[in-house]
Amino acid sequence: MTDLKAITVVPGKPEQVQVSDLPDPQPESGTLLVAGRLLGICGTDVDIVDKGYGWPPPGRDRLVIGHESLGTVVEAPAGSGFTTGDLVAGIVRRPDPVPCGPCSRGEWDFCRNGQYTERGIKELDGYGAGLWRVEPDFGIRLDPSLGDCGVLLEPASVLAKAWEQTDRIFTRATWRPTVALVTGAGPIGLFAALLGVQRGLQVHVLDRSDAGPKAQLVTDLGATFHTGDVTDLGVTPDVVIECTGHGPLVFELAEVVAPDAVICLTGISSGTRTVAIGLDQLNKAMVLENTVLFGSVNAGRRHYQQAADALTKADRRWLERLITRRVPMSGFADALHKNDDDVKVVVDLNT
Ligand code: BGC
Repeated sequence: MTDLKAITVVPGKPEQVQVSDLPDPQPESGTLLVAGRLLGICGTDVDIVDKGYGWPPPGRDRLVIGHESLGTVVEAPAGSGFTTGDLVAGIVRRPDPVPCGPCSRGEWDFCRNGQYTERGIKELDGYGAGLWRVEPDFGIRLDPSLGDCGVLLEPASVLAKAWEQTDRIFTRATWRPTVALVTGAGPIGLFAALLGVQRGLQVHVLDRSDAGPKAQLVTDLGATFHTGDVTDLGVTPDVVIECTGHGPLVFELAEVVAPDAVICLTGISSGTRTVAIGLDQLNKAMVLENTVLFGSVNAGRRHYQQAADALTKADRRWLERLITRRVPMSGFADALHKNDDDVKVVVDLNT
C-alpha cells in the first residue's frame, strides 16, 4: 500500500518528519484522483521543516508537505477536461474564502487579505503523497513529452509570473530592455535565465560560487555566468530578476542598474540581517533614474500555462540536467539539505 503514504511534517520540528500511512484521500465530488509521481523540494520546504514557516490544516499538528507536484490522473470525473493517464501538476494557492477582489477574479496570487491557503505550505495538505486529489480547475495538464521534467512546472510558474509582471512594467515607456541580470543560479535563477533567453535578452547570471553544474547549465543556455561582487560585474542591466533573497544585494542592485531599469525580487529570505544603507542616496538614485523595484510571489493559472509552454519549448536534455538527485519518500529529510552538485532534488513518490 505504498501509494497511500505521505510525507508529513510538524513545522519547525525537523526531527518529526515522517512517512505516514494516510487514509485513502476522501473522494470529494468533482476532484481528480492523481497517482503522485515526483515531488520537487525547494527552500520553502526547508523553511517549513527547519524554521517553522508553514501552517498545518486547522486543528492538526501535521501537514502533508509538498507543493512542486507531478502525477498521473487515475480518476477523472466526466466533464473535468482530464482523462485517465494525463500528466498533471497541481496549482499551489487557493483563493481566500471571503474572497477579496483579486481572489474573486482568479488572481489568488494577488490576494489582498492574506487569508489565501497553499497546498503543502499554508493550511492545506500538499502533494507529497502516493495519491492526491486536486480540483480540475487547479490542475494543469502537461505535454506528455515533458515526462519527469513536468515536476519543474511550479517553480517555473513563479518565474513566469515574475517575468510577465516585469514585461508589463516595461510598457510604461517605448524603449525595450536588452540586458538582463539574474542573481542566484539555483533552480529559480536558472528558470529566470531560461525565460530571459527565451525572450531574446542577453542574460548574465551571478552566483556566489561556481561549484557544481550551475555554471555549465548557464553557459549551455547561451547566458553568461559570473561569480563575485555585483559592483564588479562590468554589466549594466536593464532588468534584474533577483533570486537569492539576500537582502543587502537589493540595495547594491539599485546602484548598478541602467537608467529606467526594473528590478524584480523573487527570493524569500528567512534571514534577519540588518545593514546600514544610505536611504536618501538610494531614494535620489531611484527617483532620478525611474528605477522600479518590486516583489513577486506565487503564480496564477495563466502563469502555470506560460511556464508549461516555456518548458515544452526548452531543450529537454537541459531540463533533465536540472534534476540532479532523486530520493525515496523516506529520504525526504536528508534531501532538504543540498550538496554542491545539486540543482533540483526530487522525491520519487513511488518508492
Ligand atoms: C512557492 C509559492 C508560495 C511561496 C510562499 C514558494 O516556495 O513556490 O507558490 O506562494 O513559497 O508560501
